[in-house]
Amino acid sequence: MTLSINPLTEHIGAEVQGVDLTAPIGEETFAQLRDALYRHTLLVFHDQQITDEQQVALTGGFGTADMMLPSDPAGDGGPIAILSNLDEKGDIIPPDDSRILYTIANTLWHSDGSFRRVPLRGSLLAAKVVPPTGGETEFASACASYAMLPDEKKAELQGLVAEHSMAHSRAQIAPDLLSDEFLKDTPPVGQLVVRPIPETGAKALLVGSYAARIIGWPIEKGQALLQELLDWVTQPQFVYRHNWRVNDLLVYDNRCCLHRGRSWDRAVCKRVLHRTTLAGDGPMT
Ligand code: SIN
Repeated sequence: MTLSINPLTEHIGAEVQGVDLTAPIGEETFAQLRDALYRHTLLVFHDQQITDEQQVALTGGFGTADMMLPSDPAGDGGPIAILSNLDEKGDIIPPDDSRILYTIANTLWHSDGSFRRVPLRGSLLAAKVVPPTGGETEFASACASYAMLPDEKKAELQGLVAEHSMAHSRAQIAPDLLSDEFLKDTPPVGQLVVRPIPETGAKALLVGSYAARIIGWPIEKGQALLQELLDWVTQPQFVYRHNWRVNDLLVYDNRCCLHRGRSWDRAVCKRVLHRTTLAGDGPMT
């Protein structure tokens, strides 16, 4: 079967057909998929009834599968994060429960793991259960939006470092969502605001809900810049909105985009995504 790769928007996203991700994939096909990921940032596959084991194997073809922090409520220290509004018995968790509030932070624009010393390189999301309406995921091109900044703004951003933290993200939703252990495991880290992408020579804006301030700047001035950049990256021209179908599988280059989940009727409808992530190459600062 030959791969067909069709762009979904001008700046981000492509739909890929002609590959069964549940079967072993040859290196030649993986090379094509990695190349497509560099070009399009986000790859969308439909009708992939993939098991967790197969998803982990697939993740390894795009890089090194990362492990969740054992203290992260969404995982167990292994490679799979369960993003879900269901309890262990499969029943809907009330929307005001702290387990749900924790995941509601995913509705804020963010880059996965930017609160970690070595930010994540990419992620894969597999849809197991989706609501009839809402619950889409949006992706904004952090590379195209950087490229289209005025030159003076690019010069202003050069070398700036923002402080990112898990605590800053969750504090925007509710107080006391994080355990002491998780807080200890996720101290604030510095990340370059302009992230170089070595494979393509592109640069990406790294802002979003984990970014609390610009290091060395007065708080308000830094927060105003972070908000200005977030508004810039997430303009409709840079955004693709994914309407989920069961058995969709998405792979995204987390370095080159911001993303957010959209709300849905959490009290009534179930939604379950399984996420694996790709380890980054090293600290940026
Ligand atoms: C995520 O933030 O990794 C998941 C987004 C979503 O739930 O749609």
